[in-house]
Amino acid sequence: MAKRVALLTSGGDAPGMNAAIRAIVRAGIINDMEMYAVFEGFKGLVEDLISPVDRSFVSEILMRGGTILKTARLKSFVEESIQDIAVANLKRHNIDTLVIIGGDGSYRGGACLAAKGINVIGIPGTIDNDVIGTDTTIGFDTALNTITEAVDKLRDTSSSHLRCTIIEVMGNHCGDLALYGGTACGVDLILSPEYRPSDAEVVEKLKTIHHSRSRHALVLVSEKLIPDLQSFGQMIREKTGFDTTVEILGRIQRGGSPTAMDRVLAARFGVHAIEIIAQGKRNRVVGTVNGKIVDYDINAAERRSTVKTEELIGVISTLK
Ligand code: F6P
Repeated sequence: MAKRVALLTSGGDAPGMNAAIRAIVRAGIINDMEMYAVFEGFKGLVEDLISPVDRSFVSEILMRGGTILKTARLKSFVEESIQDIAVANLKRHNIDTLVIIGGDGSYRGGACLAAKGINVIGIPGTIDNDVIGTDTTIGFDTALNTITEAVDKLRDTSSSHLRCTIIEVMGNHCGDLALYGGTACGVDLILSPEYRPSDAEVVEKLKTIHHSRSRHALVLVSEKLIPDLQSFGQMIREKTGFDTTVEILGRIQRGGSPTAMDRVLAARFGVHAIEIIAQGKRNRVVGTVNGKIVDYDINAAERRSTVKTEELIGVISTLK
């Protein structure tokens, strides 16, 4: 009997998710698998929003942002009774394997299903780049490019008005978007969970810029790091004399056509996921480590390497 494989996207949408969906469906069909789509993430598993899909379902989606499968965050999925409904729905469709494209939270939901006998394969898809077992997630490169374009534009107005512009980027407790974005844009200060100069150091540096060099300043801050960014901006204004504005980039970072790198990563992850399913591997998450595609047990994925982050912090410190 042909293997029946379902796939879903979960958590925050990320550019490149559609490219991954396309790769999984096409590689699955080529490997004689019957492919099923689950709409609206874990919610769709529980509400039985599950249908068979063919090759044409994934035509013309490679270059589109968002996810054609839709996504959701289902808090109640921590409850076993809800997980049981999902498992029963999958079994009713004779689906043995579920591919989940998402971040850490989605993997946690997947591990619960794996514990109940479903074969779960995880593919890292989130702009945050915060998934264990991989150096890079689908969507990170596109979001980084969006940040770079936005910060370059903010630089124009910041420098024209000689302002201090504080810019908040996403990341959900992971500073990669701030660290990489800040390096790409050559900002004056980066504040992230991994690299957090004290308020006194921030004020000192901005005072120096404002008073002695009389120019503008760009400060990139990870979301959720500073509880009230407007008050922080006010503090900077009062202590440095800088005309200070606060800009929240927000969900624009999640949109747009995926970059070539994200499309390629999505294709590689998707094909690898199908290959390991065909080999009979169970409950794995795929990732890329030092350029190579790897897979790990869903319950034992090694932590993401911090070597690159440390090296980048070294670069930022040198260039500050
Ligand atoms: O995980 C992706 C992400 O964009 C995070 O960076 C952010 O904290 C979160 O999702 C926001 O999620 P939502 O759009 O559901 O509020």
